[in-house]
Amino acid sequence: MQTSYMGLFLFFSMLSIMTYATSSKNLLPTIPFDEGYTPLFGDNNLVLHSDGKMVHLSLDERTGSGFVSHDLYLHGYFSASIKLPSDYTAGVVVAFYMSNGDMYQKNHDEIDFEFLGNIRGKDWRIQTNVYGNGSTNIGREERYGLWFDPVEDIHQYSILWTDSQIIFYVDNVPIREVKRTESMGGDFPSKPMTLYATIWDASDWATNGGKYRVNYKYAPFVAEFSNFVLHGCAVDPIEHVAKCDNAQSSKMVPSGVTPVQRIKMDNFRKKHMTYSYCYDKIRYKAPPSECVINPKEAERLIKYDPVTFGKSRRHHGKHHHHGSGSQEEAASF
Ligand SMILES: *[C@@H]1O[C@H](CO)[C@@H](O)[C@H](O)[C@H]1NC(C)=O
Repeated sequence: MQTSYMGLFLFFSMLSIMTYATSSKNLLPTIPFDEGYTPLFGDNNLVLHSDGKMVHLSLDERTGSGFVSHDLYLHGYFSASIKLPSDYTAGVVVAFYMSNGDMYQKNHDEIDFEFLGNIRGKDWRIQTNVYGNGSTNIGREERYGLWFDPVEDIHQYSILWTDSQIIFYVDNVPIREVKRTESMGGDFPSKPMTLYATIWDASDWATNGGKYRVNYKYAPFVAEFSNFVLHGCAVDPIEHVAKCDNAQSSKMVPSGVTPVQRIKMDNFRKKHMTYSYCYDKIRYKAPPSECVINPKEAERLIKYDPVTFGKSRRHHGKHHHHGSGSQEEAASF
């Protein structure tokens, strides 16, 4: 490595550490668990900490566990701090998401953060996804590594959902922006949704397409949730009108990606994105209409996984062994 290149490399490493390190404070008021959420399943595998502000969700041989928001929301900013289970977590999935699947079986909406466990020594990966009006035949998954180890400490994961965009944040760094386009039609989530957090056994697909199953020798797998922010337009279940939370704090709700944040987002995606449906040649002969193809991103992903993102579409049997087996994981959604 030439010294000038090395210097540049160090400079950018420092820069990215600095940009990630700033502004990780959560300025919006957080609420106690009971104020916003209620247990959903898993009985004793959901444990509320005595301060009422922290919950442990665990997965063991018997069951996973989860909780759900009292209210349905049409748009808003939703956030939780999460610490993921450590050690061997292959096959384990932790999810923080919005859905209305229980109300609309055929045409539900969904906005997902999913955390995919891994074998020992390999880090958790994050997946984001969006479905609108039952468009589950078009998966819009992206996957990323992180710039920290999510089992060491809590980190904040947030979803901003408006009628024109969806932004996913990690520690206030936007990592993905989904802009509503005309051509997406109903594929952009547009009906009220509930918030959920769950931990479950996804042995069949989570780690290398089911190669590594959950090993209950390492159970219980415990995920910690705290710093709950539910800042949205709660929908009256009977009258179906949305009442937005227009308190003082709404000034602290982001309204979009700022120019400074865009630089951080681009840096994050350049460095940490490992899968994007927009570039998956095996699943989509032509990228879905909302995709904005970035040639540099395409090139980087091809190097990372030539089978999924490469140019050749002739041989795509199910049994190639390479990289992280990404398209197999994705296909099972
Ligand atoms: C959503 O799906 C329903 C049922 O399939 C359909 O009638 C409706 O037109 C769709 N809405 C949009 C906005 O595409």
